[in-house]
Amino acid sequence: MAKILVTGGLGYIGSHTVVALQEAGYEVVVVDNLSNTLAEVEDSIEKISGTRPIVHHFDVAEQGKLQNLIQDEGVEGIIHFAAFLQVNESVENPLKYYENNIGTLVSVGKAARDSGNLPIVFSSSCTVYGNPETLPVDENAPIVNSESPYGQTKIVGEQILKHAADAGDFPVISLRYFNPIGAHPSGEIGELQFGEPHHLVPYITETASGKRSELKIFGSDYPTSDGTCVRDYIHVMDLAEAHVAAMKKALSLKRGNFEAVNIGTGKGTSVLEMVKSFENATGLEVPYVLADRRAGDAIAVYASAGKAKDWLKWEASRSLDETFRDAWNWEKNLAKKNIPERENV
Ligand code: UFG
Repeated sequence: MAKILVTGGLGYIGSHTVVALQEAGYEVVVVDNLSNTLAEVEDSIEKISGTRPIVHHFDVAEQGKLQNLIQDEGVEGIIHFAAFLQVNESVENPLKYYENNIGTLVSVGKAARDSGNLPIVFSSSCTVYGNPETLPVDENAPIVNSESPYGQTKIVGEQILKHAADAGDFPVISLRYFNPIGAHPSGEIGELQFGEPHHLVPYITETASGKRSELKIFGSDYPTSDGTCVRDYIHVMDLAEAHVAAMKKALSLKRGNFEAVNIGTGKGTSVLEMVKSFENATGLEVPYVLADRRAGDAIAVYASAGKAKDWLKWEASRSLDETFRDAWNWEKNLAKKNIPERENV
């Protein structure tokens, strides 16, 4: 089996993908600068899979170091996660986001090109579609300039990789994720929270645990079935397994290929439905208030998941109930961890 480099492999989606790759028989090399995670995640991965990945702590923007590692280890494919991901922070500090997210991408691209044209699986987002006019949204929908620098780094990132693929540098599969949630069922890995969460489900679980008094639902007058925004929420292990399917495919592609693929469930769920489903799955109560709209939110976004099914032979399989049970299990374990207070990035 091929040896795969996972950049940002100790982060939320990265760590689940490392486990899924190991379970599928791949050898894994991780590069992570620990900017938004903890080194202990390595122990947690080993606990789950029984195998400790090879891990190096440095910034993948250090291209020479990255290229030496790829060549020394005999890496055959790269999954590139390493990026900053907070929408709000990117609006306050755009250059930090462009420097990091584009800098790391270019470094990974050059290292892949100069190490034998290695295939790249890129971590993109449904944010490239903005507020789509047609639902479910498929990969041919127009790409809309993002309101946030974070979102724009995903659009520009795809363009950079497309141009490089067109020039024959390597093959690329860009995975456009919808909303990843939940955690590994073991409760060993999940999304670490270094401060205020930035996504709906951690707010729900922190409210259920009593850490927060109530959940604010941003907007209840949208043109949706119950007035709240609709998203396509996908279990992070389903998403991790999509990366394994994508890497398997990418290893068979010739350089010059670039494909973008939606990774979602194909099902839209409103914020209110999420709260009710969480309560049903866990038996817990989530006090909430209906609050003002949050600036920049799309009304409804959910995937056309057909290309992933036909071309990658992958589809999401975990139910929302299962996902909420795993999210709650993680929240309880998170409460026992001694996480240093610092800013999320
Ligand atoms: N929401 C609430 N209350 C909260 C948190 C969120 O009502 O406390 C709502 C949001 O308004 C939205 C939905 O829950 O309607 C989902 O919000 P998230 O923040 O969890 O996710 P987003 O859909 O906003 O974010 C996703 C990706 C980002 C990406 C963004 C682009 O997670 O990486 O889409 O729009 F940048």
